[in-house]
Amino acid sequence: MDGPRFLSARVRGLAAFSGVPTSASLARDPSSVSPVLLHLNECPFAPSPRVVDAICKAAAGVNRYGDPRPDDLAAALSRRTGVPASNIVIGNGSDEVLALVPMMALNPGDSAVMPTPSFPRYRIGTTIMGAQPRMVRNLPDGRNDVSGLLAAIDASTKVVFACTPNNPSGAPLTRADLDALVLGVPDDVLLVMDEAYFEFDAAEGGEGALSALRERRGPWLSTRTLSKAYALAGLRIGYGLASSEELALGLVRVKLNFNLSSLSVVAALAALEDEAYAQSCMARTIAERGRVGAALRALGYPTLPSRANFLSFDYRVNSLPLILGLARQGVFIREWRDPGFETFVRMTIGLPQENDRTLQLLSEAFAQAPVCA
Ligand SMILES: Cc1ncc(COP(=O)(O)O)c(C=O)c1O
Repeated sequence: MDGPRFLSARVRGLAAFSGVPTSASLARDPSSVSPVLLHLNECPFAPSPRVVDAICKAAAGVNRYGDPRPDDLAAALSRRTGVPASNIVIGNGSDEVLALVPMMALNPGDSAVMPTPSFPRYRIGTTIMGAQPRMVRNLPDGRNDVSGLLAAIDASTKVVFACTPNNPSGAPLTRADLDALVLGVPDDVLLVMDEAYFEFDAAEGGEGALSALRERRGPWLSTRTLSKAYALAGLRIGYGLASSEELALGLVRVKLNFNLSSLSVVAALAALEDEAYAQSCMARTIAERGRVGAALRALGYPTLPSRANFLSFDYRVNSLPLILGLARQGVFIREWRDPGFETFVRMTIGLPQENDRTLQLLSEAFAQAPVCA
């Protein structure tokens, strides 16, 4: 047996998510001067001043546990989405809501179908439950391959995950893709649509997955977050919009009792009330994405189509040396971690000066890049 007995065979194969530089860890590092953090798809802007004010006002109350199912936040999300408040589950980031799905749904012998490359939680959560992750490679434009996802479903499949816009590629599903998924996933299989970057797509006219999902007879869940468009990544707050109260309660059964910090809930309410602030942050990010994309293309690296707050491109040779080289100079971007995609790079869109610094280092690195046959 490899390793100690307390590591189950399922967990032994998983990588620990640690050692990833964050603004907090870099602040403790005296050698890192003004790092440029473009590796976690965070919002580069501080949250709305109304959020900071609300947190300060609520801070003296943290001797009490937060509300595990905050009605006021569920009501605010219900007003925006039209999903009944009783069908909304609020989580410690949408990551938590996604992690609850396999805990609720999967047993050893079951399978879950999912895109790759995509958000790793689908695979990790499925593996932890001893179920089989069935990974379906995205299309060349980075969209989830809906026909491939549907073809991978069999009698063992309990859950199908999809991601729109997809991380790390950036491409959203089309309405035809969504309709095909909604109709093609069997009625007894849970269809989970990860919409962490929904607001960026919507800011450019995208309609999101909800209207298609509402046409579905079987169960569905859309997960969204306040980490990206609403600049609350550090507070960890996301939510799931479920097709039924029964599904929402299924997720609540497996979640931690007090999964939400009271300050996060207060902040989320304030952030949702200041929609103009979020829209202005997104507009600036989308404009910058256009500028950065054009610059990368001018340097000879075509970007994948993106409707999110990041861009990806193919470096054509293993991208790790490039990424480590930039990290040594305080600029953090990311390799795609998925087998077969080692040449791809993802860069979050930051402030203009951060993007400029990154582009400058990339152009220097590209000038010395090994030529690929
Ligand atoms: C596609 C996708 N889903 C979910 C998440 C989780 O976000 P959070 O837990 O901050 O809501 C992320 C974070 O980067 C993501 O990219």
